[in-house]
Amino acid sequence: MTAVVVEHVTKVFNKGRPDEVTALSDVELTVGDGEFVSLIGPSGCGKSTLLRLVADLIEPTTGAITVAGKTAGKARRDQDYGIAFQQAGLFEWRTVLRNVELPLELRGLGRAERRARAEEMLALVGLADFAGHYPAQLSGGMQQRVAIARALAVQPPLLLMDEPFGALDEMTRERLQGELLGICAKTGTSTVFVTHSISEAVFLSTKVVVMSARPGRITAAIDIDLPARDEAARQSERYFEHVTAVRQALRGVPAESAP
Ligand SMILES: Nc1ncnc2c1ncn2[C@@H]1O[C@H](COP(=O)(O)OP(=O)(O)O)[C@@H](O)[C@H]1O
Ligand SMILES: [Mg+2]
Repeated sequence: MTAVVVEHVTKVFNKGRPDEVTALSDVELTVGDGEFVSLIGPSGCGKSTLLRLVADLIEPTTGAITVAGKTAGKARRDQDYGIAFQQAGLFEWRTVLRNVELPLELRGLGRAERRARAEEMLALVGLADFAGHYPAQLSGGMQQRVAIARALAVQPPLLLMDEPFGALDEMTRERLQGELLGICAKTGTSTVFVTHSISEAVFLSTKVVVMSARPGRITAAIDIDLPARDEAARQSERYFEHVTAVRQALRGVPAESAP
């Protein structure tokens, strides 16, 4: 089953008003099962809009979106995906454990099962010892890991992430990138990941989708082929070739004319 299919999607905000904005124009995107797809492009090109459409938080003006073979709305109701945004968005009055339990509560899981699953997810992101802490007692990187654990708690086949590491320092960011890849590999999760970092997109992705602004559209899709995703990969020639290809696509240089 294909994780996500976006067909001829256009999104116009404030249609018919003086402040009308065409955020996305005729967008086509397919995310295969187990694929890791990054969306990259200048600020305002519609990355968040596209992710929110897939998540069924907003509706397309025209076109269709399918998630795991269902309408986006059905997929949302079935909790077929987990979401993590730039701000961890944790509930300050809930402990770390109870934050991760929340989507399981919404799913109607029993107390013991909830607890066991949440503990398992916290162990996965390396926070087993912080279950009883409150978000304010954690660093930004740890809070972001809690958000990821919460997004993964219902073991969704699809993960939607909007610049989840944007607010973190470079070291924490690189470590979490590695952890995220490990988790996705272990769980077989498909991912759509918004970033404005070229290096992050290349390191994480099987495919980097490049977008341009006004109106937001997809201008290139670059397959990333790295033998491994480890520290050596970040230094490899192929990695830098991919980085160059994405940078040129962002500048509007056609791939064929790249040196
Ligand atoms: N709810 C909204 N109402 C009106 N305009 C919006 C809304 N959300 C986004 N936009 C506009 O749509 C365009 C794309 O925004 P966004 O998807 O947030 O871009 P990105 O995430 O790539 O920075 C921008 O011009 C933005 O101002
Ligand atoms: Mg955005």
